[in-house]
Amino acid sequence: MLRRLVDRGAHVVPVLTEAATHFVGAATFSALASEPVETELFGGATPIPHTRLGRQADVVVLVPATARVIGEYAAGISADLLGATLLATRAPVVLCPAMHTEMWEHPAVRDNVAILRSRGVHVVEPDSGRLAGGDVGEGRLADPARIVAAVAGVLAARGRAIREPLLDLAGLVVLVTAGGTREPIDPVRYIANRSSGRQGHAVAEVAAQRGATVVLVSASELPPPPGVTTVHVETAAELAEAVLERSGSADVVVMAAAVADFRPVAVSATKIHKRDGVPEIRLEPTLDVLAELGRRRQPGQVVVGFAAETGEALERGRAKLVAKGADLVVVNDVTMPGAGFGHETNAVTLLYASGATLEVPCAPKRTIAAAVLDAVTAIRREGTPVPSPDAGARGPGHDEGAAR
Ligand code: CTP
Repeated sequence: MLRRLVDRGAHVVPVLTEAATHFVGAATFSALASEPVETELFGGATPIPHTRLGRQADVVVLVPATARVIGEYAAGISADLLGATLLATRAPVVLCPAMHTEMWEHPAVRDNVAILRSRGVHVVEPDSGRLAGGDVGEGRLADPARIVAAVAGVLAARGRAIREPLLDLAGLVVLVTAGGTREPIDPVRYIANRSSGRQGHAVAEVAAQRGATVVLVSASELPPPPGVTTVHVETAAELAEAVLERSGSADVVVMAAAVADFRPVAVSATKIHKRDGVPEIRLEPTLDVLAELGRRRQPGQVVVGFAAETGEALERGRAKLVAKGADLVVVNDVTMPGAGFGHETNAVTLLYASGATLEVPCAPKRTIAAAVLDAVTAIRREGTPVPSPDAGARGPGHDEGAAR
């Protein structure tokens, strides 16, 4: 939610209850928001933060609104900074309840919500679906898109606006791969790699937000991004099958997955035991999916590869681009601080088939994803950019991409 509002130009100050910090750390919110989180009524930089926050706000969004917060707000209790801010503000309040079905249906909660509604609070009704602990029912936090639409509506009624969402990928089918494949040795062991899938998942999520129909073939254990059709795979062979089955109808293919290059020739049906001695595991190459996509590429299709390197990154990335026939290769040196496997951030260089390059400095993986998708739209619009002599080369549309 916070990211979506920031992406659309909102200045967001997160106010966290003590309970909220048990779910997501304050550091995460601070990193994503426009200002550090506020949690304390006393002891902070300003003596009366609630009146300042209340006056500054164009809108207050309570997400997720728990039964306790709703009850305190309805009763006019200012137990903490959030409660005090809610009473101190004259800005419209958008309430997004989330709780178990039994709690949501409890007469006390019903009455409290009705009281708040009668006072002009905007309520974004919860959805039905999976709840904490695996239960299914009404009470699940509304889809973020619905909440953002409600916030935009409330602001518009007051003559304020957040930016329209960027929908430059509307009408396109984007196929993305993510994560590291696992090649089984026996029923308990496999050969794997360090890819977390974060970068590929970020590409899929941002592409969907920008209007594309996205299919994500994921070998990662991360949850599927919202609004994306996700196909889970484990091995390189499964990934290849899932990708090649769907690539014919894709306008863009982004191969962010770390696909195993080799797999055991034979997978033991039973566990290999120590007593039988050191096993000899013979390996055979897997299909290079990116190279196959390069061979099968249809007119107008944009094919993007990734290259995670540990030295001579640009040279190796360039060689891969040429060998595999990609339009763009996203190179990162995984030995650089803040880049590569498992990190929330990445630093990459985009290599174009024409020889042009664009450096994207260390940034959250969603920002890197946006820069990759900017490059894809520029290639679709104007072809691959001509390399410029002043190294840090720019191609069409890239100022915008690097800044986003
Ligand atoms: N790739 C692929 N199929 C494979 C191996 C890699 O499609 N069997 C893709 C990756 O998804 C990535 C690109 O090729 O987009 C580069 O992968 P990388 O592992 O860096 O390159 P390799 O060709 O495997 O070369 P090397 O391992 O020697 O660096």
